[in-house]
Amino acid sequence: MSTTKITMDSILSLSKRRGFVFQSSEIYGGLNGCWDYGPLGVELLRNIKEAWWKSMTYRDDIEGIDASILMHPRTWEASGHLSQFSDPMIDNKTSKSRYRADTLIEEYIAKLRNKNKTIKADEVEKRLASVSSNEDYYSIIIDEGITDPVSGTAEWTEVRNFNLMFKTYLGPTEDSNAVVYLRPETAQGIFVNFKNVLDTSRQKIPFGIAQIGKSFRNEINTKNFLFRTREFEQMEMQYFVKPGTHKEYYEEWVQIRRDWYKRLGMKDESLRFKNHEKLAHYADAAVDIEFLFPFGWGEIEGIHSRTDFDLMKHQEFSGKKLEFVDTVTKDRFVPYVVETAAGASRNFMAFLCNAYDEETVTDDKGGEEVRTVLRFSPELAPVTAAVFPLINNENLLEISTKLYKSLQQSMKVQFDKSGAIGRRYRRQDEIGTPFCITVDFETIDDQCVTIRERDSMMQERVSLDQVRSYIQSKM
Ligand code: GAP
Repeated sequence: MSTTKITMDSILSLSKRRGFVFQSSEIYGGLNGCWDYGPLGVELLRNIKEAWWKSMTYRDDIEGIDASILMHPRTWEASGHLSQFSDPMIDNKTSKSRYRADTLIEEYIAKLRNKNKTIKADEVEKRLASVSSNEDYYSIIIDEGITDPVSGTAEWTEVRNFNLMFKTYLGPTEDSNAVVYLRPETAQGIFVNFKNVLDTSRQKIPFGIAQIGKSFRNEINTKNFLFRTREFEQMEMQYFVKPGTHKEYYEEWVQIRRDWYKRLGMKDESLRFKNHEKLAHYADAAVDIEFLFPFGWGEIEGIHSRTDFDLMKHQEFSGKKLEFVDTVTKDRFVPYVVETAAGASRNFMAFLCNAYDEETVTDDKGGEEVRTVLRFSPELAPVTAAVFPLINNENLLEISTKLYKSLQQSMKVQFDKSGAIGRRYRRQDEIGTPFCITVDFETIDDQCVTIRERDSMMQERVSLDQVRSYIQSKM
């Protein structure tokens, strides 16, 4: 029986206890907005990225690339990031704390709702929705007497824009000519390579370019574990299409991405697709794929119909033609783009929350115990199988070690010979291992082992030489 009420605390505590995620530079007190993936976390993250990569590039019409994090600074002028990629920030003069002005107001609205002051909350929300300048944010904060959660005062500076790109210098001189930026999205590496891929891969429109890589945003406020961090990974795919056909491809990609999440075990009730009401100036359709985290709904991926905005801008700023020429019809045009932009780290947290369960089961002595189980799809599970010799007996150790070494050639396996079998099952349940294989005394005679499946806890006798194919068939 499932008894789960997932909280962020249970996810955080499991992540630390079992080595999924650690605070970055923990021995120095940690670094805000940065996290390290531990031995199990890195396996889960790699499996998510691998599942995405295969679904994107193991098809005829999508090529992969891996562009560098540092790009020519003109890239960010062309894309608009230099002038527009900023958040409105406000400082409290007493506490010296810095906040995103819009978040401060949103939190105030949430407080009003908690106190059932619905009319007032609606009124402030309406003002927030129609903000068009930093002065508008400032007026709301002052009019409403919003106070700093740290100092409790309403001593605010004016609202200013804060560019989220991290700056650094290329080469030994630290002057303005040497300034470069850590990319805030992987997409621009794809746009600037559009022509290279088109010319070298023999693709024709429609085709896509996929990339997985690190992005950096100097977020004013990081929050909710891996949800908003300063360094994170993105999995982006830009699909280049003939103008006029973009609506149909946009719909198709929304469906493809929905199917991907479902195939990997995302529960229907934990996923929603939220259309953007206010579109960015370059988009003619956009939807956020949101997951229901313990703290509420949060975006894990955006799908955007970006028109020809980016290629046109790069064409203008670089002076290079970024067109597709149809060799048959002689048609030439700058393609439109449908983008699927997922966060690998947000996906990681979503798949972890989606898998987390606690259920009451019968223990070895016939009593009740609560088992924590991560119900990952076998494709994503950090460890695919665990091999247990029933007891520390020379013959059993020999057979189980041989099986373990043989499975290790094609999957991630753990070997565990300590403690009662029940305890060993619980250890594997807690990290989501789908198959536990026990070598017992009967194995010596019948050359069969017991495979226990994580979710149903059903056991099956399987011949030693069939173990690998048994597991592969279940994956
Ligand atoms: N090229 C489009 C683009 O970057 P975005 O909505 O800004 O779009 C795409 O980002 C995805 O990247 C988001 O859905 C989210 O999963 C992830 N992401 C964005 N900012 C993030 C942050 N600060 N921390 C973790 N993930 C983030």
